[in-house]
Amino acid sequence: MTPSPTAAGVFALPLASTADIAAGTSWLRFRPPPDTACEPGQFFMLSTVAPSPVAYLGRPFSIGDVRDGEWFFMLRALGRGTAWLRTLELGTMMRLVGPLGVGFARDESKVHRMIAGGIGLAPFLFLARRLRTEQPEAAIELYYGERDARSHIELTADEKELFDTVERFTDDGSLGIAGSVVDGLENRWAEPEVAWYGCGPQPMLRAAAAKLEEHDVDSAQFAFEERMACGFGVCQACIVPNRYPPPRYHLLCTEGPVLEIGKVAW
Ligand SMILES: Cc1cc2nc3c(=O)[nH]c(=O)nc-3n(C[C@H](O)[C@H](O)[C@H](O)COP(=O)(O)OP(=O)(O)OC[C@H]3O[C@@H](n4cnc5c(N)ncnc54)[C@H](O)[C@@H]3O)c2cc1C
Ligand code: FES
Repeated sequence: MTPSPTAAGVFALPLASTADIAAGTSWLRFRPPPDTACEPGQFFMLSTVAPSPVAYLGRPFSIGDVRDGEWFFMLRALGRGTAWLRTLELGTMMRLVGPLGVGFARDESKVHRMIAGGIGLAPFLFLARRLRTEQPEAAIELYYGERDARSHIELTADEKELFDTVERFTDDGSLGIAGSVVDGLENRWAEPEVAWYGCGPQPMLRAAAAKLEEHDVDSAQFAFEERMACGFGVCQACIVPNRYPPPRYHLLCTEGPVLEIGKVAW
């Protein structure tokens, strides 16, 4: 299923709740107006209505989950903007611009396999929730890697039920299987009837794309979490080089953030 077009808007919403879920990582929850549609893989630019003392521009965040009409964003503090967003008090009026970009296509498949590195987990709960409803017979798998146990986001019982398989990895072996997700997938790259989805740091995506191409898998959708400034095609900050001539770039905020791996010059 190709994501249906969604109308982007500018929303001023109070921060309804926050919950810490791992080192430096929280859920932010908002109550949007009823029937505001968004698709897994799309994102919002988040800032405050009052000008911020530390972050003038909004920061992009994937729609982490939608439950009972409420929006959830999984936020990990990386630099000053995200660290500041994590400190906001409940009720702070926030500015949400979106939903922006093109999300994941959800074609029929026997298996939907998601590979996540770190905060690259963010778009996959919402994606899995949609797939569960749309394709109840399909197997949904999550392969999720983190640096260590402290950074690892423990899924709730409800979230675990979205997946038939959850395999966890840490670089230092402090939780789950020691090593990277890409190494951990071993010989599963060539399995038939698998729809692949990825999100995480570029080196992880590059390594996963190389494995898939090595096994002649030519279709996989990877979501990029590059730097963005405007979020809607003006500043040209969010480019990734395309694969084929003529040389040009994909603008991740309008053509992505989800791209087919074959479109990218890794
Ligand atoms: C489409 C999209 C969806 C995203 N979804 C999420 C999400 O759901 N949850 C989440 O926590 N984060 C997400 N991110 C990443 C998040 O937007 C960045 O972490 C944030 O913009 C960094 O802002 P900052 O002010 O904290 O960092 P800055 O102070 O601007 O930078 C701090 C350091 O991090 C580096 N940096 C900044 N941005 C990035 C980046 N995007 N990737 C790698 N290094 C970076 C800088 O070079 C610098 O070294 C997403 C990004 C994109 C583009
Ligand atoms: S973020 Fe400005 S063009 Fe993409």
